[in-house]
Amino acid sequence: MQKTGRTKSSFKAGMYLLETLTSGMYNEPLSIYREYIQNAADSIDILRSQKKKTSMKINIDLDPLDKRITIHDNGFGIPSDIAQKTLSSIGSSDKAHRGLRGFRGIGRLGGVAFSDKAIYRTKAQGENIESIQEWDCKKLREFLADPQKSSLSIKQLFNKTTTFYQQNSRRTSGSYFEVVLEGVTSFRNHIIDIKKVRDYLSQVTPVPFPPECTYSEKLNDFLSKNLNHYGKYEIILNGEPVYKPYQNKVKITKKGYDEIIDVETFIIKLKGKIVAVGWYGIRKDLLGAIARGSGDSGIRVRSGNIMIGDAHILDSCFREPRFNSYTVGEVHVDSPDLVPNSRRDDFVDNETKTLFYNSIERQIGLPISKEIRIQSRLASTGGTINSDNRKNLIKENVETAKNEKQIQNQKLLDNIPDNVTSKEILKEILSNCHNCSHLSNVFSKFLKS
Ligand SMILES: Nc1ncnc2c1ncn2[C@@H]1O[C@H](COP(=O)(O)OP(=O)(O)OP(=O)(O)O)[C@@H](O)[C@H]1O
Ligand SMILES: [Mg+2]
Repeated sequence: MQKTGRTKSSFKAGMYLLETLTSGMYNEPLSIYREYIQNAADSIDILRSQKKKTSMKINIDLDPLDKRITIHDNGFGIPSDIAQKTLSSIGSSDKAHRGLRGFRGIGRLGGVAFSDKAIYRTKAQGENIESIQEWDCKKLREFLADPQKSSLSIKQLFNKTTTFYQQNSRRTSGSYFEVVLEGVTSFRNHIIDIKKVRDYLSQVTPVPFPPECTYSEKLNDFLSKNLNHYGKYEIILNGEPVYKPYQNKVKITKKGYDEIIDVETFIIKLKGKIVAVGWYGIRKDLLGAIARGSGDSGIRVRSGNIMIGDAHILDSCFREPRFNSYTVGEVHVDSPDLVPNSRRDDFVDNETKTLFYNSIERQIGLPISKEIRIQSRLASTGGTINSDNRKNLIKENVETAKNEKQIQNQKLLDNIPDNVTSKEILKEILSNCHNCSHLSNVFSKFLKS
């Protein structure tokens, strides 16, 4: 069929797209805290890069009785001339390619799914204009549930349920961005449960290591030295600062506690470039998994010092998935090729992701798994050994295995009769390794030549 000139585009973005970007995005309602804190941290980074302020905070006020959440930061804010455009763009962001955490232009929509009203209020340094956007989230949900309205476009729905206005502010100094969510509810209301929120913030957000933890300083030094940008922020929940969940002791599932006697640090390199750095705690006894509820078990993955996925993201890198829960630790990724997916529960699929997981398995998961097995075997015969001896034992095992393999290979070579040509040897190997396509290809190449 012949093309007969251009036709007008009939593209339409329907209103249900907004539902996908709000309630459809997050299995865990608490994720909205991660999104707003990520925005606050990005904004603080922008201001820090201009060296205008040193003390910057993120304050969260949670009122479970009034069902209200307020998240306030004194970062860069949004200048009044671009505030409306910035807050009215969905799925595009000025942050892209600026080395900041966000870039998809959707994170701030999270709160819309769990509140009746969302208010974004902001002011930039040196201005006396405050810009405000309000979302009538209740009305938005009513529209989405009404079949009569199903033909609305996303733009029409946005215009019917949001308002933007500006007003004079009393001060020109200072900058801020404030999120107020009113009438907040979620399944079982974890989103307004102060303890649950504190636990979540301490595990997921870029807060400092606790001052009382003896390895905090060592880790701060290591991460500051080896990451391009190691951001940590003062986050205050209802007046109390939030810290990461790490302590000198870990609570064991069976009973009692074990000590973290030191931390081991590591660097993951791919093709000669650093893509991640991390640490894990060395347990004194290493018997039994760390209790789930304590919030510290498992080696966690972080990007921009914000957790990706959950405590089990690296389970598959261990001999047995449960072995990940025997440890505490973090892997901070630092590579433009490891991009968090839009739900931030893993990375976008690509070759670097595969190589990264393989390296974690080889460098971290397998050695730790071996240590756990050695210790539990010893314990079943009534003994245990300390961490240094455990590591030496593994080294010796690896060396012995290597030596045994070498002796075996040598024996095989020695047994080849003198009259056999190398071509015949290659044929013999090829006939036995047809399951390995890579090896077969290599040998076939030699046999042809
Ligand atoms: N706390 C804040 N301070 C200053 N600007 C903010 C703040 N929160 C949001 N913004 C502005 O609103 C925009 C949209 O935020 P949103 O979280 O939706 O997207 P994003 O952060 O750009 O990308 P992502 O979807 O990956 O989070 C941001 O790009 C930023 O310009
Ligand atoms: Mg964001």
